[in-house]
Amino acid sequence: MNTPTDRHATTAVPIHPLLATRHSTRAFAPGVDLSDAQAAALLEAARWAPSAGNTQPWRFLLARRDTGEFKRVLDCLNPGNRDWASHASALLVAVRTDANAKGPLSHAMYDLGQAMAHLTFQAAAEGLTVRQMGGFDAAALAAEFDLAAPLVPTTVAAIGVAGDPAALPESVAGPDRAARVRLAVDELLIRP
Ligand SMILES: Cc1cc2nc3c(=O)[nH]c(=O)nc-3n(C[C@H](O)[C@H](O)[C@H](O)COP(=O)(O)O)c2cc1C
Repeated sequence: MNTPTDRHATTAVPIHPLLATRHSTRAFAPGVDLSDAQAAALLEAARWAPSAGNTQPWRFLLARRDTGEFKRVLDCLNPGNRDWASHASALLVAVRTDANAKGPLSHAMYDLGQAMAHLTFQAAAEGLTVRQMGGFDAAALAAEFDLAAPLVPTTVAAIGVAGDPAALPESVAGPDRAARVRLAVDELLIRP
């Protein structure tokens, strides 16, 4: 049994260690760069995700720490995300494209989520953590980087090496110190 502050999942049956140990933290080890090899591996993992009709409706804007792009993405985050995310090694804007030359892509959001799941597990394999965010101003971010329809910034992910949650300010520390919980599989199953 894991303790409440152990970030690993307490699973009902064994699952792959990469899945059981993955978690999103708001605490990042400061001053750590994302290497070119890590960035390449994350994007390659996303690239090989499945998608409806192999339409691959995902695009990414990778902003590394200590760059102008990083600051521009950071400024579009909600205030509650901005402080902790400023310590990440990189901010990745996950963008979906809602249409291609053949017409609308109705599963674009779903497919982008799959690509991000792939990226997240590759990150775990690289010893990195990823915290995805819906808390940002999508219109401001689209304007800042000239992302016009059908491109839609959908999430921003903070990527880096997990830091010490004890170092987080009280205002954001709660979820990073509380036990990680999930609905039971029984509650997920729809039994006709
Ligand atoms: C689409 C999406 C949006 C999220 N938005 C935020 C956010 O704005 N701020 C934040 O701190 N965490 C955010 N999260 C992180 C979730 O709160 C976190 O994944 C969830 O609590 C489960 O924790 P775990 O990833 O450690 O299992 C988001 C996650 C996802 C997938």
